[in-house]
Amino acid sequence: MDPDKTCFHIGPVPIQGDLILAPMDGITDSPYRRLTRRFGSAMSYTEFINAVDIIHKSPLLESRLKFTEEERPLAIQLLDNDPERIEKAALYVKQLQPEILDINFGCCARSVANRGAGAGLLREPQKIAQIFTKLSTIGMPVTAKIRLGWDETTRNYLEIARIIEENGGKLIAVHGRTRQQTYTGQADWDAIARIKQAVKIPVIGNGDVRNLEDIERMREYTKCDGVMIARGAIGNPWIFSGIDKSSIPPQQIMDTMIIHLNWMVEFYGAAHGLIRFRKHANAYLQSFTVLPELRNELLTCSDKATFVQILTRILLVNY
Ligand SMILES: Cc1cc2nc3c(=O)[nH]c(=O)nc-3n(C[C@H](O)[C@H](O)[C@H](O)COP(=O)(O)O)c2cc1C
Repeated sequence: MDPDKTCFHIGPVPIQGDLILAPMDGITDSPYRRLTRRFGSAMSYTEFINAVDIIHKSPLLESRLKFTEEERPLAIQLLDNDPERIEKAALYVKQLQPEILDINFGCCARSVANRGAGAGLLREPQKIAQIFTKLSTIGMPVTAKIRLGWDETTRNYLEIARIIEENGGKLIAVHGRTRQQTYTGQADWDAIARIKQAVKIPVIGNGDVRNLEDIERMREYTKCDGVMIARGAIGNPWIFSGIDKSSIPPQQIMDTMIIHLNWMVEFYGAAHGLIRFRKHANAYLQSFTVLPELRNELLTCSDKATFVQILTRILLVNY
């Protein structure tokens, strides 16, 4: 570790770099976190982990909690509406020795937010205080990923940010939209800048960063400690290396896809790994000319050797 490269700290944990892969359910599993760390993402967040699943030892849990050393520093993200269950889940997760514990205050899915979890907690600031107080003795830094509020009439992000800081939170990542907005409209970077000015703990800006120009604009505009990228990073790990994907030769994109695919197959097994890789493949190939029937063949094929053969045919067309 080179201390000169440290951009900020999360509690005692130094973070080397300011570009960070956002947590994404169904995308940022262990193989993709590992890949993006290699490409320069400064740390990793797991997909959200439902505290209820931890308590009931759901069979889905194992792959969601598994990680490799390469992904560190790692934040395990918990999601729930009940402070006691979150505490129990946090104690379980602690045994896995992540560097950081993150709490999700941003998920806008109806099934989550309407039961008061994720962005639903933004309507109950006192519960947020309670969660951080309960976790204050857990022995690892606890962070928050928030939205700006429930809807346009309750954009209470400054109150929420202060509560997080006052109750021991060590970092705030902010998606600049309300729950009501889901993914519509534009992320409000002014609001992110206001949060950065209002608290002393590090703030990471998130929302609508799609390319290298956006990264620079987000840095300049918000003065945040880090820039978090979600959708713009699907099929584009190069964004973390500061390289425009359009300048990457097709063969190199293919080579990266094969490494990623191999890791997926190792991690999930042949059938499941290939199925889960399909959405990544689609995103990697966005800049390619792909005949619709070839794309269809690729995205329905269920055998790795055939998949690689089809990729090679696509590559030939794109030379
Ligand atoms: C497919 C998908 C899954 C997501 N899953 C999570 C999640 O598990 N936890 C979380 O905090 N945010 C999740 N998000 C929100 C992103 O982390 C991010 O805040 C949002 O997409 C805005 O960033 P962007 O404009 O760079 O995409 C998800 C977003 C997408 C598109």
